[in-house]
Amino acid sequence: MSKHKNELYLQDMDILFGIIFLHGTGYRQQQNEETSYIDGSTVYGSTDDQLSVLRDRVRFMFPGKKVYLPNRGGVGWAAFHNVTIDRDRYMITSNKYNLPRNPKGTCTLNKKFEFCHNAGHSEVNQVPSLTSFHTLFVNEHNRIVDALSKVNPTWDANKLFQEARKINIAQLQHIIYNGFLKAILSPSTMSKYKLRSHDDGYNNCYDIKRDASISNEFGIAYRMGHTWIPTYQDLYIDLHTRQTGRETGPFDIVRTFNNPHLIFLNQRTGSQGILKWLISEAAPTTDRIVENSARNRLFQNFTTNESFDLASLNINRGRDHGIPPYGKHRESCRLSALSANWNSLVDHHSTDITLLRKVYDDPRDIDLFTGALTERRETSSELGPTLNCILGREFQNLKEGDSYWYERPKPQGFSTKQLNEIRKTSLSAVLCAYLDLKEISKDAFKLPGDSNPIVRCKELPSIDLTKWKVAS
Ligand code: HEM
Repeated sequence: MSKHKNELYLQDMDILFGIIFLHGTGYRQQQNEETSYIDGSTVYGSTDDQLSVLRDRVRFMFPGKKVYLPNRGGVGWAAFHNVTIDRDRYMITSNKYNLPRNPKGTCTLNKKFEFCHNAGHSEVNQVPSLTSFHTLFVNEHNRIVDALSKVNPTWDANKLFQEARKINIAQLQHIIYNGFLKAILSPSTMSKYKLRSHDDGYNNCYDIKRDASISNEFGIAYRMGHTWIPTYQDLYIDLHTRQTGRETGPFDIVRTFNNPHLIFLNQRTGSQGILKWLISEAAPTTDRIVENSARNRLFQNFTTNESFDLASLNINRGRDHGIPPYGKHRESCRLSALSANWNSLVDHHSTDITLLRKVYDDPRDIDLFTGALTERRETSSELGPTLNCILGREFQNLKEGDSYWYERPKPQGFSTKQLNEIRKTSLSAVLCAYLDLKEISKDAFKLPGDSNPIVRCKELPSIDLTKWKVAS
């Protein structure tokens, strides 16, 4: 009996020590829903379970009878003898190009035939322009599969799937670092954090000691993208012409939050029209202004008129997460420290300092989101020095902490010939292929102009998949 009591005592002590450890000496962290790496998780999901729902599969079949086959034309019945059962080389699409249906989705639907979409990331229905980008890279996977199967007719479905996935992710990494980051960060940030890819040969930059998890401050700082949210969404038929029809744009963005209606316009391939619009018109400038639609009317409920304010959500979330104020991040970035004197805000315009003084008693209280977004831009950058630093650091960690970084040598990497093909890719080239365009601006992240001419798609460098041919 007494032994039993002792055991109980020890168990209680374990629990007690656990409580002391967790609450007394440790600290809490938020959990991630997605992988941090740039690994195409918007296309393939972050887990095997997610992928198994998104990858094209024959669900069940009865020999000689009919088969329930989710395929690129949508979910349907097909005669058994007509069915190729190796469709799991593809990612599922519906209505020809759209993302698959999510039967559990909770988006707002307008017409009977509409549905909420499913993709690797649960926020895919948040706004049609985001859905369209997910759609682009799902279709790019399928395009690569088709090309690889012509180059290597003997490859089985799984080999085609895995190699296409590897190429698609490599293209994404290349485009994000050499297209997107180059468009927003300063040239000195790009070189300080070694973000640009090599021109030739391997880059074995993996460093096992690098922590590639997303830092808390990045989770707030990277919301600077909320300043780019436009007031409307639109569909174009080419680079210059708005789509006409029964419903014409521009469409108030508030009506499109969590509502995929636009994706079903244009003979139900609205995502293509949205992508054409995205590369044709300027986004709002990166500044302290978050447009009214996101600031006062985010996810507006048109019955009760209740809505959210994205800017205050960002500030609040920073405080929830215990993020130090803006000034502390300047110090960690080796920028000048802030004092109680408002003149210590050396990277702010006087008009912005006046506005900040109306809200904060002391410059050292300014929240990270507020202080970083109101900084003056660095030369040749969309962002100020603190955002350049936080983004530069995180993207270096994501690159050098990724043992699957696309520029690494074999065994996980590509041959040098293949790698140099990946390096030819660009967002413009991927868009040309998907949208069947004749012309596009050389750099799709920027508006066309003297330094960014419109070029014929045929003339754009793009990946040659014959370099994946294996000797038979
Ligand atoms: C119409 C476009 C967009 C909408 C409606 C939107 C909406 C949201 C919402 C509601 C949240 C969660 C806020 C919270 O409760 O803390 C969020 C988080 C976030 N957003 Fe956006 N956003 C949009 C575009 C963007 C863009 C363009 C970027 C960056 C380039 C961005 C970066 C982020 C980041 C980094 C987070 C935090 C994610 C996390 O920690 O899990 N968003 N956004």
